[in-house]
Amino acid sequence: MTASFSAPGKAILFGEHAVVYGQPAIAVPLPQLRARALIRPLDSPLKIIAEGAPGRRGIQDPLQKMAEITQQQLGLPRLNGEITIQSQIPIASGLGSGAAVSAAIGRAAAALAGTTIRDEVLNSLVYEIEKLHHGKPSGIDNSVIVFERPLYFRTGYQPEFLRINAPLRLLVADSGVAALTRDAVAHVQRLLQRQPDFAREALQRIGNLVESARRCLEAGEQARLGQLMCENHALLRALGLSSPALDVLVAAALAGGALGAKLSGAGMGGNIIALTPAAAAVDVEQRLMRAGAVTVISASIGGEQRQA
Ligand code: MEV
Repeated sequence: MTASFSAPGKAILFGEHAVVYGQPAIAVPLPQLRARALIRPLDSPLKIIAEGAPGRRGIQDPLQKMAEITQQQLGLPRLNGEITIQSQIPIASGLGSGAAVSAAIGRAAAALAGTTIRDEVLNSLVYEIEKLHHGKPSGIDNSVIVFERPLYFRTGYQPEFLRINAPLRLLVADSGVAALTRDAVAHVQRLLQRQPDFAREALQRIGNLVESARRCLEAGEQARLGQLMCENHALLRALGLSSPALDVLVAAALAGGALGAKLSGAGMGGNIIALTPAAAAVDVEQRLMRAGAVTVISASIGGEQRQA
């Protein structure tokens, strides 16, 4: 018998990096893009198999560690069986692959022992694993992925779930360049040491944008939301977190009629997101592909879906 447990990818709409320094940020789950963990109860000690994810080398330890800390936290007996990971989320692309795999493993490990894990508990365990991937995570990735709801997040506070009234149509375009969150976060840390006034002001301005974006999301003001995305991209770019490939994708999306576009996640590679009205979706997608996107995924955000 096998059963499957999963968690979604995520996109940060506003506030990446600034959120590491106490500013708020807004993130949404990408339910169409999932990491799944299939369980097979056996009498042998737990084995975790990562399938079909090129470049996933070296990630075995965090996978084992996630199962181990789930077992310890829930006071479970030794885990027996197999967990097979199948992830549709590209790694090192800002879409939360690591946190989604951890969340799926936590759910699967609990199920192997015949129990379930509460989201609050799972969230704190996934956060522990996030710390292994990159030193100083804000906690936004694990929160949006575990709760699978759009959220307004600030480190040290309970995440606030956002009600998105007018559904958002996002195109998520992959530059095909892998970039580690750890490196991008370290870059901002260095900038804060070398140019503290400039970096602090940029991070504060990003925080201010997040507050405006929250109001627009709740009021369904998508045109203004798009402008705020462009402003957020410009600030991330000024902080040295964009790349020529990402800038070209943002420009292509805007030329095709997107209301706004920005890099999403840690940057320096990975993905951009474009807020794209339905009427412009085909044109924007084609332009993104011509501009060098490796893949373009369409996501509709709003309403509260959750898959098994
Ligand atoms: C990465 O998805 C988002 C960052 O803000 C890092 C973090 O919040 O831990 C760059």
